[in-house]
Amino acid sequence: MYRLVYMSTPRHPLPREELNAILAAATKNNNRNGITGILIQDQKRFLQYLEGDEARVEETFARISMDKRHHAIFRLKSGAIIRRQFPGWSMASKTVDHGSGLTSAVGELVKGCDRDLAEELLSFAAARDRAT
Ligand SMILES: Cc1cc2nc3c(=O)[nH]c(=O)nc-3n(C[C@H](O)[C@H](O)[C@H](O)COP(=O)(O)O)c2cc1C
Repeated sequence: MYRLVYMSTPRHPLPREELNAILAAATKNNNRNGITGILIQDQKRFLQYLEGDEARVEETFARISMDKRHHAIFRLKSGAIIRRQFPGWSMASKTVDHGSGLTSAVGELVKGCDRDLAEELLSFAAARDRAT
């Protein structure tokens, strides 16, 4: 099992319909590819966590990286993990309300995760919140 975490910047504030279209494509493709994960969004950033077979995750990330709806894509972390963390989610998503940080949104989504992974995702979110 392999995971990849990245952050990116939306090209422009995404209307709800556009986000729904992204999630629909993600759900369809990720189901087919055995990929699960989470996508968190505030007005300025995406934070996405993908997990599954290494080749499938890398191929999905390569496709996502070409997507014109976001830019400034940077990989925060990738590598082997012991078990799947989000078995029930082909792509769970959370939009952060105006004014509240990524950290609380991540906190809600990582409740069932292994502790080290939850801490890793929370630390990315906290760093981002501090930078805002
Ligand atoms: C922030 C963001 C996250 C995305 N996440 C996924 C994803 O998890 N899986 C996926 O297949 N596509 C994802 N996409 C969409 C891909 O970039 C691409 O549009 C899509 O995979 C094309 O699918 P299609 O050929 O079936 O239309 C994401 C796009 C953005 C902007």
